[in-house]
Amino acid sequence: MAARILAFLSERPMSTIVALVGSLRAKSYNRALLNVAIELLPSGHRIEIAEIGELPLFNEDLEANPPASVSKLKQQIAAADAVLFVTPEYNYSVPGVLKNAIDWASRPYGKNSFEGKPAAIMGASVGNLGSARAQYHLRQIAVFLDLKLLNKPEVMVPNASKSFDGEGKLVSEDSRKNVQKLLESLIAWAEKLRG
Ligand code: FNR
Repeated sequence: MAARILAFLSERPMSTIVALVGSLRAKSYNRALLNVAIELLPSGHRIEIAEIGELPLFNEDLEANPPASVSKLKQQIAAADAVLFVTPEYNYSVPGVLKNAIDWASRPYGKNSFEGKPAAIMGASVGNLGSARAQYHLRQIAVFLDLKLLNKPEVMVPNASKSFDGEGKLVSEDSRKNVQKLLESLIAWAEKLRG
């Protein structure tokens, strides 16, 4: 029986998840949260980080012949089985750096790299709501992008300065389990949508 289960598991296709982080800060809690996801990712799958800090500000004049950093981002998303957004909340919304990356990847018209992709959101903030308002704005944006967003679990890590220790380790065992559950659900969601 165990051998059969192992054989079944090994036949499951590998999923590549491309991650976009909405903070460029060297000691970002959200980058630390992504590192937790990399640590807890079920074996046989991979997370690839899209480095969105190198992108220029969006300019529609450039979209037909975009800079190399934009083409790379669009290729990373197109090649991935799923997208993972990891974002703080800035002024109750999505940080500009993340929105900039989303705008680039969604263009030119008719070549939206996010179209139909399974996706999930998680985030951390120093406030009490753990980036909830930014996440709900991102969900609204995802409607236009035609992303297939995972509804649950919601991973919102509040009070980040206490939730992470000095080495960027997520202290709360419940939050760690929540991250793990989100990853498992996202992989299953991507497999389901692939048919
Ligand atoms: C913030 N921060 C913040 N926090 C929050 O809970 N709600 C908010 O609306 C805002 N707004 C906001 C605006 C701007 C411009 C900054 C720079 C910060 C605080 C935010 O949660 C904190 O800086 C986090 O540490 C940002 O995440 P990273 O960089 O640690 O990943």
